[in-house]
Order: sequence, then C-alpha cells, then structure tokens
Amino acid sequence: MTSDRMTKSNIEPPSLEALLVLTKQAMARTNDVIIERLGSDVPLIPQLAGHLVAAGGKRMRPMLCLAGALMGQRSSGTPDLPEAAHLLAASVEFIHSATLLHDDVIDMSDKRRGRDTANALWGNEASVLVGDFLFARAFQLMVLTGDISVLDMLSTASARITEGEIKQMSLAGEPASPLEDYLEVITNKTAILFAAAAESGCRVGGGTDSECLAMHHYGLSLGRAFQICDDTLDYAATSDGMGKNAGDDFRDGKITMPVILAWRDGSAQERAFWQRTQAEGNINEGDFEEAVAILSYHNAIERSLAAAEQEIDLALKSLSGLDDSALKSALISAALFSVKRSY
Ligand code: IPE
Ligand code: IPE
Ligand code: MG
Ligand code: MG
Repeated sequence: MTSDRMTKSNIEPPSLEALLVLTKQAMARTNDVIIERLGSDVPLIPQLAGHLVAAGGKRMRPMLCLAGALMGQRSSGTPDLPEAAHLLAASVEFIHSATLLHDDVIDMSDKRRGRDTANALWGNEASVLVGDFLFARAFQLMVLTGDISVLDMLSTASARITEGEIKQMSLAGEPASPLEDYLEVITNKTAILFAAAAESGCRVGGGTDSECLAMHHYGLSLGRAFQICDDTLDYAATSDGMGKNAGDDFRDGKITMPVILAWRDGSAQERAFWQRTQAEGNINEGDFEEAVAILSYHNAIERSLAAAEQEIDLALKSLSGLDDSALKSALISAALFSVKRSY
C-alpha cells in the first residue's frame, strides 16, 4: 500500500532507533571499511582522523546511504547489499569527517563529539591536511564502486559543501542577511550531502529512478531541517548535551535563522546589539545570555523550529509514493527526530 496517510499524524516516534536497528548489520561492515581505509603509513593520519571517527557521532549520513541501498535492494529483489553500498556509506562519512575537521578550524571550535577537537589537540595545519586526506580517500572509495553516476552525485555534493561554507563566510557579521541567503547556505553545506547519500545508496542498491529521486528529495529536506535545528541548538542547548560548545555561532558572528528573525523584528536597541556583537565582533561578558534573551523575546528559536518542521513535512511527502514498509516508517521516525533532537 502506498499512502499519504503515513505522515506526522501517524504513530512513528521521533527517533533514530528504528533506522539504527534496520541498518545495524550493514553499518558493522561499513565501519570495517571506515577503519581499513583510515590506514596510512603516516602515523599522524590515523591518529588524528581516528580521534574524530572513534568518537562516533550519529552516523546519520552513512545510515541514510545504507537505508537508500536497502530500499533499492528491496525493490530489485537482490539477495545481499552490494559491497558498493558499504564503500559509498564509508565515503559519505569520510566527506562529512573532512568537512568537520575543516569546519572546526574555520569556526575555531575546541569541542566536538564530547572531545577536544583535532585542531585544539594537533593544531590547524594538521587538521586541514588530514581533512584533505579524508576527502581524497572518499573519492578513492567512490571510484571503487565503479559507478559514474554516484561519483557525479558525491563530487557535486563536495563542491556544493565548500560553496556553502564560503557563502556562509561572506554573510558572517551581517544580521540583516536575507533568509534566502541563509537557506542557500544550509542547502549547500549540509542538505546536499544528505540528499546525495540517500540517493546514491538507493542507486547502487538497485532502486528505480523514482525511488532514487524520492530518497534525494527526502534527504534534501531532512538535511535543511537538520541544519536549522543545529543552528537553534547553538543558542538553546547545553554544551554537555550537544558534545560541542554552545554559543560558537554567536562568538563567530555566524548568521543563522534565529538571528535573522530576531533582527527583522528587532527594536533599534536590539539591532544596535546585533551590530556590535555580530558585525563588529565586540563581544563582552554576558552578551551571549543577552542574545539568548532577545531570541526568546521574539520566539526566534520556536519559529526557526517551525520552519524546520515544514521541511520535515516535505521530507515525509517525498516518501509518500513509496510502498509502506518498516524501512519507510524508520525513515519517517528519523526525519521527525532530526528536529526534536538535542544533540
Ligand atoms: C554536524 O553534523 C554538522 C552539521 C551539519 C550540523 P552531525 O550533527 O551529523 O555530527 P555528528 O556526525 O553526529 O557528530
Ligand atoms: C556544519 O555547520 C558544517 C558543515 C556542514 C561543513 P556548523 O558549523 O553549524 O556545524 P557544527 O555546529 O560545528 O557541528
Ligand atoms: Mg562549526
Ligand atoms: Mg552548528
């Protein structure tokens, strides 16, 4: 049965658990590929990359890639997941890890996944270079799949991530930035990789064109919602809960949806505050707490999360043409989780 009925009114809880269970076996093999491919004769590479990878993370992107592959496998009736699915899932996590290493240098972050960041421990140069290594490894893994279409998807995604990060840099310190610019940034830096992970997995799993397209749109909307939620957490969550420092975006002058909304509705005094702290980078003790209070006054966190929920509605709609299954329910739960998460 296919249905539009399977939406948020259904009983799926917001949780990653079901997807974790369904991809558990495949993820074990993917993890083996990740560990094997971190190897290098230059000891600093596995040391530094291993520090980040061993801390885990949610593994959302490889999980979506494997879910896409399972979706394709189900419809094509292939008995086993092809090795290409594991190569791709590992490749996607390598791209993600590379961007995190670079991102923490750019954002001058010193905490990630509950640990000191690689840049805090080994310095910026080592982090950037090992990030480059991980990107290169990711491409080697893609080539091993022998499928030019997935190489196209993931190489495009890699270019778009960098475009997103660079555009974000150009918006830094500009609280009057249009919401459209912010949406372009998060689409590029985050959502495209989610989309490419889900779609490419589906492709190597043997999915039909329409299934692969559905997975692409699901990943794209989910990725946008995921980043909007991440940007609210930077003001609304605790560092311990997130495993990374709250307030990094504020200190970096990074302009995210809550700030844009609060600027739009802000009084002259509030705008002067954003101008001083974000545009001029003149931040004093107590300013972060003041920013949180202003965002709260304008309900900017709730309104941002409402925008993320709208993206999730789109993600669920993308799945509506697919046959109902435990996998589809798990994808719905994962989408709902991505805006209810606290880490
Ligand atoms: C962090 O991604 C970067 C963003 C796109 C917000 P995740 O929240 O997926 O990080 P890990 O992999 O779980 O640590
Ligand atoms: C995500 O942006 C970075 C990339 C997608 C490259 P953030 O800067 O918000 O991620 P965190 O908060 O450091 O994980
Ligand atoms: Mg960052
Ligand atoms: Mg963030």
